[in-house]
Amino acid sequence: MTETVLGVVGGSGIYDLPGLEHAEWVSVESPWGAPSDQVRIGRIDGLKVVFLPRHGRGHVYAPSDINYRANIDVLKRCGVTDLVSVSACGSLKEELAPGTFVLVEQFIDRTFAREKSFFGAGCVAHVSMAYPVSPRLVDTVEAAARSENLTYRRGGTYLAMEGPQFSSLAESHLYRSWGCDVIGMTNMPEAKLAREAEICYATVAMITDYDSWHPDHGEVEIQAIIKVLQDNAANAQNLVARIARDIPRIHEACPVGSDTALEFAIMTKPEA
Ligand code: ADE
Repeated sequence: MTETVLGVVGGSGIYDLPGLEHAEWVSVESPWGAPSDQVRIGRIDGLKVVFLPRHGRGHVYAPSDINYRANIDVLKRCGVTDLVSVSACGSLKEELAPGTFVLVEQFIDRTFAREKSFFGAGCVAHVSMAYPVSPRLVDTVEAAARSENLTYRRGGTYLAMEGPQFSSLAESHLYRSWGCDVIGMTNMPEAKLAREAEICYATVAMITDYDSWHPDHGEVEIQAIIKVLQDNAANAQNLVARIARDIPRIHEACPVGSDTALEFAIMTKPEA
């Protein structure tokens, strides 16, 4: 029996969670290098919640410069069993207007300048990423989104791009032709590393813009994105707090095996 520990990785707008008690910033060291920041650990209705600001407080790390391995490693060291990722995303679909929360189901990883695995020389492992999010955790997130009366959609494919520049018009049209729903710069390799760390993962894409494809909405502008984020900060905080209140206190086995991903994945013989 494992107690649930909820991890949250996201923007600085969500670390003042309603109902968070005994909160303190804690430094956690990792052999993988420096994480983005200290973690903020507290309790909501008795549940341990561990929050990590993905870009660091003050937004000091660009998406390509985030040490995703160290971030996932420190969350694991804090005992996180279930990780909810919250991030700003562009919309690749007309019906996903800014302000919508998308509970992503699939990813296409187009990032290329990031460390993507804890494994490699000396110890080789191949985990499955067929079902990158944990359906039970998404059930909890969806129930919370409904309770908070958020505009949300369950399902959708997230295109992870390297950035930091936004997409060209041609790229935006290409990703739409692939059937992608949202675009962002941070959920990969986060989701892959969470799987290697056997942490259940769900991601909430907060739509902030229509990327560059939409004829009635010009180019993506960071000021407009920040405005939508600020307008939705309270919604995001309430969503995460509600997840913390409602998630089962005893971790439930993941139907897609997120929490046992390494069982048959390691190729290297222990004595090698
Ligand atoms: N984050 C927010 N909007 C985005 C966009 N259009 N492309 C990539 N990342 C984003």
